[in-house]
Formats: sequence, structure tokens, C-alpha cells
Amino acid sequence: MTSEVRIEGRVFVRAAHRRAVTPERGTVVRVRRYEVALFDVGGDVVAYENACPHQGGPIGEGFVESGTVTCPWHAWCFDLRTGTLTLGDFARLRRFDVHVEGSELYVAAEPVEGSAW
Ligand code: FES
Repeated sequence: MTSEVRIEGRVFVRAAHRRAVTPERGTVVRVRRYEVALFDVGGDVVAYENACPHQGGPIGEGFVESGTVTCPWHAWCFDLRTGTLTLGDFARLRRFDVHVEGSELYVAAEPVEGSAW
């Protein structure tokens, strides 16, 4: 099992077993210099930097419900499909691409450019 794979020139780092990510809560992993929160949204795994755009709260420890996560610090709520704040379009989580290979999850070593506001 390799710890990294290259896809179209981009590096993806093995981050977690697929079963470690469940719909009830976030799963926080380390991907090189980033702390990343993984979420299961309807069977798909999405990944965001574990830092709320408001004041850096640990979004991976937030309350997960109906495809959203609520930051544990000041309750900003984000749509997990898009990473966008649900109460306005002025903030968005920094997204990382996810690659599933067998039962392993690989997360891109760098965030999607321009994904955070
Ligand atoms: S740090 Fe997340 S709502 Fe304030």
C-alpha cells in the first residue's frame, strides 16, 4: 500500500481508511502541512481544511446534520457539498480533492486553488 499517489501530476496522500469516515461526524487527519477534516456526505467523502474561515475554529469537530456542519466556536454553518456558508455567500471552507482507491482515502497535498473565500 503506497502512502502517496500521483494523479495528473498532483500528489495525493493516504489519509484514512474509508470506514473511518462516517456520516455522523468529521474525521480529522494530517495531510502534510495541513490539518484536514473529512466528511461523509451521502456516501461521498469531502475534505476541507480544519479551519473555519471565521476565526479558525476546528470545523472537523463541528455538529454534522443534514449535509451541513456547524462550527463549534461560533456556530457558523456550512453546506458540506459546496463548503459554502449556509446563511450568506461571503465565506467558504478551503477544499481538498479526495481520491478513493480500494478501501483507502487519499487527499490532495494542496487545497483546491481559490476554493476558500
Ligand atoms: S471560528 Fe467558526 S464560527 Fe467562529
